[in-house]
Amino acid sequence: MAPKGLFLALCLSALLVASWGRKVRHYQWEVGYVFWKPDCQEKVMIGINGQFPGPTIRAKAGDTIVVELKNALHTEGVVIHWHGIRQLGTPWADGTASISQCPISPEETFVYRFKVDKPGTYFYHGHYGMQRAAGLYGSLIVDVADGEREPFHYDGELNVLLSDWYHQDINTQAVGLSSNPFRWIGEPQTLLINGRGQHGCSLASHVLEGLSACEINSSQCAPVTLPVLPNRTYRLRIASTTSLASLNLAVGSHKMVVVEADGNYVQPFEVKDMDIYSGDSYSVLLTTDQDPSSNYWLSLSVRGREPKTQPALAILNYHPNSATKLPTAKPPVSPLWNDYAHSKAFTYRILALKGTERPPASATRRIALLNTQNKLNGYTKWSINNVSLALPSTPYLGSMKHRLAGAFDAERPPESFPGDYDVMRPATNPNTTQSSGVYVLDFNTTVDVILQNANALSANVSEIHPWHLHGHDFWVLGYGEGRFTEKDAKGFNLKNPPLRNTAVIFPYGWTALRFVTDNPGVWAFHCHIEPHLHMGMGVIFAEGVHLVSRIPKEAIACGMMGKKFMNLP
Ligand code: C2O
Ligand code: CU
Repeated sequence: MAPKGLFLALCLSALLVASWGRKVRHYQWEVGYVFWKPDCQEKVMIGINGQFPGPTIRAKAGDTIVVELKNALHTEGVVIHWHGIRQLGTPWADGTASISQCPISPEETFVYRFKVDKPGTYFYHGHYGMQRAAGLYGSLIVDVADGEREPFHYDGELNVLLSDWYHQDINTQAVGLSSNPFRWIGEPQTLLINGRGQHGCSLASHVLEGLSACEINSSQCAPVTLPVLPNRTYRLRIASTTSLASLNLAVGSHKMVVVEADGNYVQPFEVKDMDIYSGDSYSVLLTTDQDPSSNYWLSLSVRGREPKTQPALAILNYHPNSATKLPTAKPPVSPLWNDYAHSKAFTYRILALKGTERPPASATRRIALLNTQNKLNGYTKWSINNVSLALPSTPYLGSMKHRLAGAFDAERPPESFPGDYDVMRPATNPNTTQSSGVYVLDFNTTVDVILQNANALSANVSEIHPWHLHGHDFWVLGYGEGRFTEKDAKGFNLKNPPLRNTAVIFPYGWTALRFVTDNPGVWAFHCHIEPHLHMGMGVIFAEGVHLVSRIPKEAIACGMMGKKFMNLP
C-alpha cells in the first residue's frame, strides 16, 4: 500500500474507533389524537403512533437520536421537548414553540436530531400550549456508553413514569385559565403510573375505606405491575411530567436508595418515601429483601396541595406470585400533604456524588426572580419580577440569530425586585405587565439565580413551584426561608451542590442556583406546572446566540422570520 493510502486507512480506522459503539437511533413518530382510557374513562388524548404514553426512547451516551415527527393533529401545531437533554450545539432541536422553533404545522414533518451526551433518566413532552397535559409525553433513557459503568450496581430495571390526568380537555382548561372571571383547573382526577390509573375506585378497596373495588374495563387502565425476583436490586427510573401535582412515592416495607437526580449522580441516601415534583427525575435502588410470598404496593400521593385525588397504586410483584395477587399489607401511608418539613428534609439530602464537577467559586451576575401571582386588567397571571411572560409568534432563536428588530419586546426584564417587597404578604399592588423580553447573558460567564417565592394573591397562600432550565444543568447552592439576604450567599454550598435541571421553591422560601452560560442558544426557564407556565410563569435566557451555527430553516421560518426568508434570493 502506498504511504498515502496507508495513512488514509489509518485515519479511517481511527475514526471508526472514535465512533465505535455510537449509534444513530432513528424513530418515526406520528402525533395524533386517540381515544384512550388512562383511568378507565374514555377521553381523547394526544398519542404517538396511536399509543399513550409515547414510545420509550432508549439510547447510550454519545448516541444521536433522530426523531422524524409528523404532525397528524390536523388543526394545530405541535413540538416536542427533550427534557433534561442539554442540546449542546443543537439549540434548534430543543422543541420549545416560540423559543427554539416554529410549531410544526399539521401534516408536516420536522426532524429532531440531537446527541444524548450524558447517561440518565429523562423524558420528553409537548411544549406548545398545554399539550403536555393532553398526554403528549414519554420516557427517554440514556445508558452509559459501552465500556463505561454506573457508580452503583443493580440487577434489573423498572420504569416508572408519573403523571396526572384531568377529564377536562386542555382547550377548556386553557380558556378557563385565561378568562375573567378566572376558572382554575382544580385538582387532577387521577394520578397515572406509566400512563395508567383508576378513577373513583380503589385497587386496594379491601383496605381503603369508602371506595369500591375497581372494575378494570380495559388493559389501558389495568394496574401497573412491576415484576421482580426476590433478593435482587432494582433500579427504579422515576420521572414526573405532571401538569400540576407534586408527588410522594413509597413502596410498602421497602426502602429506597436515591442514586441519580435529573441525569446526575447523587451521594446515595436511603429513604422510606420520596417527593417528586413535575420536571424531576430520579433513579432509586430497591432491594427485594422482603417476604417473597406476598406482593407489595407502590403508592403515589399528592403533596403540597390539599389532596382531592386518590393515591395511585402499582403492584411490586415478587416472582413467582401471581401478578394479580393483591398485597396483604395496606398501601404505605404517605406524609401529610402540608408536612413541608418532611419535603425539605428530603430535598436537602440531595447532594452531588463525589467527583461531580464543582461550581465556579463566584458568579459574575446575580438575577433575583420574584415569583408572584398577579392581575392584568382583571385576568389572573403569574409573574416574575412583576412581568408575566407572553411568548412571541416568531421564535427567539431565529429572530435573535438573524438580528430581526421588533420580533419581541426589546426592553430587558428586571434584574431584581424592590428591596421593600414583603414576600410574606399579598402584593400591595397586584398589577402586572406582560412582556416577551429576554435576559441576555454574556457567553461563558457564571450566573446566579435566586428564585424568591412569595405570597400569592390571597393571604396565607404560597405555593410550590418546580423551576426547570433548558439547555443546562445548574448547581443548587442552597435553600432558605423568607426573603433571601446577602448573608445567605455566605452559606452557599460550593462543596457538593447537586447538579440538576429542575429545582423546587418551597412556600415563602428561596432557592439559589448557579450555572455557566456555555451553550449558545435561547433557553426557557420556567415553572414546570403546566397551568402556571400558561399563566406566564417563566423567563427567557439567551447566550452566545451569534455563535449558533446554521439553524435549519424549517425550524425558524415562521412569523417575521417567515417573511424574511421569503425575501431571500
Ligand atoms: Cu419539561 Cu420547558 O419543560
Ligand atoms: Cu408554578
